[in-house]
Amino acid sequence: MSGFGSHFATEAVPGALPQGRNSPQKPAHGLYAEQLSGTAFTAPRHENRRSWLYRMRPSAEHPPYGRYQGAKLFAPGTANEPLAPNRLRWDPLPMPDGPTDLIDGLVTMVANRDPAELEGVAVHVYRANRDMEDRFFVDADGELLFIPQMGRLALLTELGRIDVAPGEIALVPRGVRFRALLPDGEARGYVAENHGSLFRLPELGPIGSNGLANARDFETPVAAYEDRDGGFELVQKYLGSLWTTTLDHSPLDVVAWHGNLAPWKYDLSRFNTIGTVSFDHPDPSIFTVLTSPSDVPGRANADFVIFPPRWMVAEDTFRPPWFHRNVMSECMGLIHGAYDAKAEGFAPGGMSLHNMMSGHGPDVASWKGASEAELKPHRIEGTMAFMVESCWPFRPTEFALNCEQMQLDYDQAWGGFPKAKLP
Ligand SMILES: [Fe+2]
Repeated sequence: MSGFGSHFATEAVPGALPQGRNSPQKPAHGLYAEQLSGTAFTAPRHENRRSWLYRMRPSAEHPPYGRYQGAKLFAPGTANEPLAPNRLRWDPLPMPDGPTDLIDGLVTMVANRDPAELEGVAVHVYRANRDMEDRFFVDADGELLFIPQMGRLALLTELGRIDVAPGEIALVPRGVRFRALLPDGEARGYVAENHGSLFRLPELGPIGSNGLANARDFETPVAAYEDRDGGFELVQKYLGSLWTTTLDHSPLDVVAWHGNLAPWKYDLSRFNTIGTVSFDHPDPSIFTVLTSPSDVPGRANADFVIFPPRWMVAEDTFRPPWFHRNVMSECMGLIHGAYDAKAEGFAPGGMSLHNMMSGHGPDVASWKGASEAELKPHRIEGTMAFMVESCWPFRPTEFALNCEQMQLDYDQAWGGFPKAKLP
């Protein structure tokens, strides 16, 4: 189904979806009606997001949760020591040694704010080589934006199935239970976990009524359910900790649903990239796919930004990203290819962190190349980098600060610039 935040209605069994009401006295087939709220009941109408689910058993049916002992690198909290104002970069994390599913393969790299504050964003990396057969996951702390880098994911959610490949992204709303299969046997990628206001499409201002990510290119699955009894585990992330409970049935038993809170996928190649046709390199906000606003106008809790293939035509312009210091904090990843501000050292699957007021920009090789390049139209091909930008500085985890993939020589990217020659 096409559209962003649209009001969808879908049923996997004819007649399962009530017509003209949400909660009839006896829903069809003995189904249970359940509302899933993504915003407060009283959120303004244009912000209000909720869906009604019609399921074989209520999601309330489960024993108490206990602490989950797996996934040691997922949501361990960030490092306790004062945050150094250093620029950081990581090589790709290796694939796990033994059989590891998506949940146990999640590694939290950076995070900001406590999830209980309902603000902030965390960036995790997943590396997995085993399907989640009888295990399910649900995140109460935020919506999960999946950014596959290697291998496809099949996300089987309460509201339907999403197949997503590198070059595409997928979102699972806060509170939606799901399991992940790996059609290619293994997979690696990034997850942006948004604790704040829901991701939405950015305002377009003078761009007009079309452009950037267009609403019709977001795809939401139709209802699909599992009728499975047996022994199942449900892992939940809740206020920064992991918990586990058991279920005697698959929680993916939603036979029909309607509403505007739902998972979706989006093919990044559909992004209508806009840039200068005269001079200067515009601010990278023109590459915003999704934004989660904070309470301060124009200052995002989290922006999801991409750097896709595009034409560079600016005249008398240093074309790569300029040197800058930003009040916002920038966490970048690379899906494939090379990023135009870094000639080397930033590999697909890697990550970089340029926190608030960190001086950064092109490395020496990129600066030299772009300063001397002939300024004919040039197409940047075969690349897809992304950035999660936040007004809250990111704090790395102990693992991120101490793993052998952290590049101890990253500062050298900005060493050796020739001094300006004054007259
Ligand atoms: Fe930057």
